[in-house]
Amino acid sequence: EFDVGLRPRALADYIGQSAMKENLSIFIRAARKRQAPLDHVLLYGPPGLGKTTMANIIATEMGGSFQSTSGPAIERAGDLASILTNLSAFDVLFIDEIHRLPSVVEEVLYPAMEDFQLDIVIGQGPGARSVKIDLPPFTLVGATTRAGLLSTPLFDRFGVVHRLEFYTTNELVQILKRSAQLLNIGIDDDGAATIARRARGTPRVANRLLRRCRDFAEVVGEGFIDHKGALYALDSLGVDQLGLEESHRSLLNCIARKFSGGPVGLSTLSAALGEEKDSIEDVQEPYLIQQGLLERTPRGRKITPAGMVHIGLKDAVPYQPKL
Ligand code: ADE
Repeated sequence: EFDVGLRPRALADYIGQSAMKENLSIFIRAARKRQAPLDHVLLYGPPGLGKTTMANIIATEMGGSFQSTSGPAIERAGDLASILTNLSAFDVLFIDEIHRLPSVVEEVLYPAMEDFQLDIVIGQGPGARSVKIDLPPFTLVGATTRAGLLSTPLFDRFGVVHRLEFYTTNELVQILKRSAQLLNIGIDDDGAATIARRARGTPRVANRLLRRCRDFAEVVGEGFIDHKGALYALDSLGVDQLGLEESHRSLLNCIARKFSGGPVGLSTLSAALGEEKDSIEDVQEPYLIQQGLLERTPRGRKITPAGMVHIGLKDAVPYQPKL
């Protein structure tokens, strides 16, 4: 098999996000006990932290099947109607990028979420009729990068809302060891820690770096990932000590050099870099902000002193004990 899936299938195998995991575990058990569907769940946070994985796990734990789509893929009310009428009881309908659902589609979703009913209009003009169709009890799991992007009526219809956090190095080490086993590659503690420290708190990044380290280990190494092998691979990939890649450093350099450190507006930055605004804001920036390398201010983005140090435009300030 060429593409081994690394996603855990049971809640017990999901590492990290302990607050979300413990809460969901209770809500799933409660729902099962009363043979009712789990309330609709909204998961938000930066990409790669396990929103899709958790949606899959919810389906498995509820004994339903997993149906997946995305906000931009559902263009018309009829598209959603056909998805909803094909669901079975206790299924999970996963809508990724749910903030990008067209508003005409959102309208169809409200009664479906609230009363498991589909309200559709058949025909046009004076002969048009409105019909109601009963839907099976299902759970909508919505995913988005920022909860604030959702309209209030949609947000308010989720009974469970969780933000996914960046993972600790220790959690990523556990994930990497599990993945290494599935990928059939040896790795020691130092090798796993080296990858984990440069994975930007993100399992998807950690697993991608692991696959690349495995390539290096199998072709130019000893078929085993240790500290030295991992470091060689990561350096070859241009992943630096903080886990930043070329695109992150370009972003910091652009603010520092073209815009005198900022503040610079997102649209200007997007044009200067030739990158999508959404991708800068939702994919690249969250980790840079979390690491204190970049700041969002009302007047735009600014590089921080730590950011300047990281790209080598400023000397690190040594710690000065007061005498
Ligand atoms: N693979 C990706 N995310 C994971 C997680 N949170 N736990 C275990 N394995 C994972």
